[in-house]
Amino acid sequence: MPKALDPESRWSWLSQAGAEAVHALSASACLLRGDALEILPKLPRGRFDMVFADPPYFLSSGGITCKSGRMARVDKGEWDKPAGFRKDYDFTRNWLSLCRRVLAPDGTIWVSGTRHVIYMVGCAMQELGYKLLNEIIWYKRNAPPNLSCRYFTHSTETILWAARSEKSRHVFNYDAMKSQNKGRQMRNLWEISPPSKQEKRYGKHPTQKPEALLERIIEASTNPGQLILDPFCGSGTTGVAAVRLGRWFLGIDSDPKYLEVARKRIGDESGLDAEGPQARHSRQPKLW
Ligand SMILES: C[S@@+](CC[C@H](N)C(=O)[O-])C[C@H]1O[C@@H](n2cnc3c(N)ncnc32)[C@H](O)[C@@H]1O
Repeated sequence: MPKALDPESRWSWLSQAGAEAVHALSASACLLRGDALEILPKLPRGRFDMVFADPPYFLSSGGITCKSGRMARVDKGEWDKPAGFRKDYDFTRNWLSLCRRVLAPDGTIWVSGTRHVIYMVGCAMQELGYKLLNEIIWYKRNAPPNLSCRYFTHSTETILWAARSEKSRHVFNYDAMKSQNKGRQMRNLWEISPPSKQEKRYGKHPTQKPEALLERIIEASTNPGQLILDPFCGSGTTGVAAVRLGRWFLGIDSDPKYLEVARKRIGDESGLDAEGPQARHSRQPKLW
């Protein structure tokens, strides 16, 4: 059931997370700047209906890739560099545990990844008591070729969908998914194109997700009025899709440059201000 919160009280609990962390705020969306591992423990327990996380994949380890037809180093940023299996696993387990604390009893979490991280995610999820619901294979038809010719071309990412616990009665909007698949049951193989130029008009993020992917995820597993968290929100794709679909959104990222891109993108949908909590009513929010 959608929460009946009025705009006044909607973000009142944010002060616990520290007003200084607020990068931008509107009635329907909020962006927090900082380390997710420090911010998540300050958020209220059980508050979020759904989490989407596109975490560091630990891909940036000096390998090569093909970018715009040219050979290039895989370097998404410092945040994506592996620190060894134990440290990477502990980091992954930590944020998954913190997300579970803030998930509502019937809430679900979606986590994207490649082979570099997704098995850690699945293992930690099981250790922590999540209930695995599905693994979605996101297929990228126009994936770049493998330049080394020693591996199959990487053309998929995996997205794990899990409920908070075995007892959760999770939302699955079966009919909406079926109608999006020409009246047949939606399968777990999703062919979705990478983000369009239009989706990158406010700046590029090295691992930006397509809006269509997030729209499907949000429509499948939440209802209008519900609250969505993205602890590694980057350029704000989850927020764009959430606000567009009438959900509300809290995003965290440690990099202000990406938060600025997110603010502009979500602002196009909702009127998001970068002036902190006092600006919350300075524009007409679109949701009410
Ligand atoms: C894979 S990207 C997310 C991209 C996003 N889904 C999008 O569509 O733009 C991961 C993001 O997590 C951020 N990040 C990495 N470690 C973090 C941490 N400990 N706390 C908060 N943000 C972090 C990075 O700055 C990066 O923008």
